[in-house]
Amino acid sequence: MMNISVLVSGGGTNLQAIINAVEHGEISDVKIVSVVSNNPGAYALERAAAHGLDGVCISPKDFADREQYAKALLAHLKETETDLVVLAGFLVVIPPMIVEAFPNRIINIHPSLIPSFCGTGYYGLKVHEEALRRGVKVTGATVHFVDSGTDTGPIILQKAVEIRDDDTPQSLQLRVMQHAEWRLLPEAIDLIAHGRVQVENGRTRILPEDIL
Ligand code: GAR
Repeated sequence: MMNISVLVSGGGTNLQAIINAVEHGEISDVKIVSVVSNNPGAYALERAAAHGLDGVCISPKDFADREQYAKALLAHLKETETDLVVLAGFLVVIPPMIVEAFPNRIINIHPSLIPSFCGTGYYGLKVHEEALRRGVKVTGATVHFVDSGTDTGPIILQKAVEIRDDDTPQSLQLRVMQHAEWRLLPEAIDLIAHGRVQVENGRTRILPEDIL
């Protein structure tokens, strides 16, 4: 059984996709041991409570400095015996202390095809606004491991989504979520839980089921 903690900041639709996948057996051998928000008002915390999951707010604002925040978050992840940290719309930069403690054990969902429209300043709706401004015809979502950079870690899964002429940032965000994010994140968690993601030289390899 792999224990996961899901870190959230807002609406929590990706968290919901993970909860649904666990409840429907699309993800196996995974237990959600904690939902952590940096924002006490995050609707994601209500989703957690509605499914009997432990939710907690650990906010940088409640600590004297980033180091104290990082220590508190790390202590929580250790206490809950977290094996994999899942960033599901978590808008705080992960402290280096946490990245070091969980090498290739933190994953993030990003709403574009990395390396397009990613890095500092690219989050949430801004990603889709930029894709539309640039006029790309295809966008999508990426699940990747988190390293010390911003959106630079090894890519695990990607899925493309076509852009329509009449898209708005909001319509595009919803389609990327429906067609890519809500499928990819549970799938990546299941692959990792079953030891099917290998990392070598900054790249991943997905092992087929039958060679295990
Ligand atoms: C999602 O689109 C996620 O990909 C994005 O924030 C949204 C959160 O939605 N994350 C980033 O932009 C990270 N750089 P949710 O709270 O409904 O899951």
